[in-house]
Amino acid sequence: MSNIAIIGLQWGDEGKGKIVDVLSDRFDAVIRFQGGHNAGHTIKVDDKTYKLSLLPSGLVRNKFSVIGSGVVVDPIALFKEIKSVEALGLTISNENLAIADNCALILSIHRELDNLLESQKGDKKIGTTGRGIGPAYEDRCGRRSLRICDLLDDNILQERIENLLFYHNLLRKSLGAKEVRVEDIINELAPIKERLLSYAKPSFEIARILKKKKNVMFEGAQGALLDVAFGTFPYVTSSHTVSGQVALGSCLGVGDLHKTLGILKAYTTRVGFGPFPTELDNEIGKFLQVEGGEIGTVTGRDRRCGWLDVVLVRQAIQLSNVKEIVLTKLDVLDKLEEIKICVGYEVDGKEYDYLPANCALWDKIKPVYETIDGWNETTVGAKSLSDLPQKALNYIKRIEELCAIKVAIVSTGPKREETIIVSEL
Ligand code: IMP
Repeated sequence: MSNIAIIGLQWGDEGKGKIVDVLSDRFDAVIRFQGGHNAGHTIKVDDKTYKLSLLPSGLVRNKFSVIGSGVVVDPIALFKEIKSVEALGLTISNENLAIADNCALILSIHRELDNLLESQKGDKKIGTTGRGIGPAYEDRCGRRSLRICDLLDDNILQERIENLLFYHNLLRKSLGAKEVRVEDIINELAPIKERLLSYAKPSFEIARILKKKKNVMFEGAQGALLDVAFGTFPYVTSSHTVSGQVALGSCLGVGDLHKTLGILKAYTTRVGFGPFPTELDNEIGKFLQVEGGEIGTVTGRDRRCGWLDVVLVRQAIQLSNVKEIVLTKLDVLDKLEEIKICVGYEVDGKEYDYLPANCALWDKIKPVYETIDGWNETTVGAKSLSDLPQKALNYIKRIEELCAIKVAIVSTGPKREETIIVSEL
């Protein structure tokens, strides 16, 4: 078995979906191990665009795909997504999709709570995707969640819902929201119950199937800087997005992950609020936003844009034990005269080579930049390093030097074939 994890090295939207799709041909199974339908993976194949949120990207190539136990599952969103990809010609069945039966469910109460809590926060909003991800993970930690396996027995389900609503109704009352009754949740689950159970399998059984596969890919969602513990807390998602989570959320264990590939966009973006030291609130930021099509796949919000921040990328590489990098969206930089890379921070005259945990310092960070010549030539669709201008090669080389890591793949456009394989994985 040779198993690889794909991890985003920034605040998500690094282009993981395309890379999972390009590589999944070499793998026998693709597994999601965290997050939920807050993720947005866009895959372009010929004239078709697949927008995936919860489904593993491996399904686009009909690979055996797993929604692992670390994922929170919104059944309504799941079936909507299945319908949308089936309309594009894919077939999804329990032959090619398995969902761990201990996944926690996202219900309407989680979506409502996510939005209610955000609306109370004034200028302290996180800017969540509003999908109920945070409240669903909170319920799992609080041992209140409904899990898919709870749908197997009506008495257990009733008990679990009562327990869940005891907590939610207390909270809802204090937020001025209507009380929810047990029947409301039972009615919500009734139309999706049997169908959801048809995909469900015990984690152990999924592990047994996966152990028989030669090569498995673990598909990360979001990025390292949104990790609930190691990201820019509290402006983070509610799951672990670093490679350690593979062992906790994929149905497989620690020794089953053999290598981690980090996905790095050639510049930086983030959606939602929170610190962003290299953000460009000027015409270059706007250029990156327009040229890179930086609009959130899930929320439709404009992404904030800025220069590549090697300080944060080094942290992300270290956290996930990343061995090689895939550099994406290089072509977006084609028309720039000069390109900057942030190589350090200065705060009140003191130098930092990491993001200080004290958030009172975040607004005072002055990025220290290195300036590189732009190449002013198109790299769109380049398929080999020899197709790239020398100055673009210099940019790649400088990233390798600053991050002490090798760039194994360069992506030069959204399509499968717009990819340079620099070295075999
Ligand atoms: P939540 O995951 O919906 O709770 O949102 C928490 C933060 O993570 C917000 O800033 C979101 O914009 C961000 N976020 C969640 N999922 C993604 C993603 O797939 N790409 C980029 N940002 C994300």
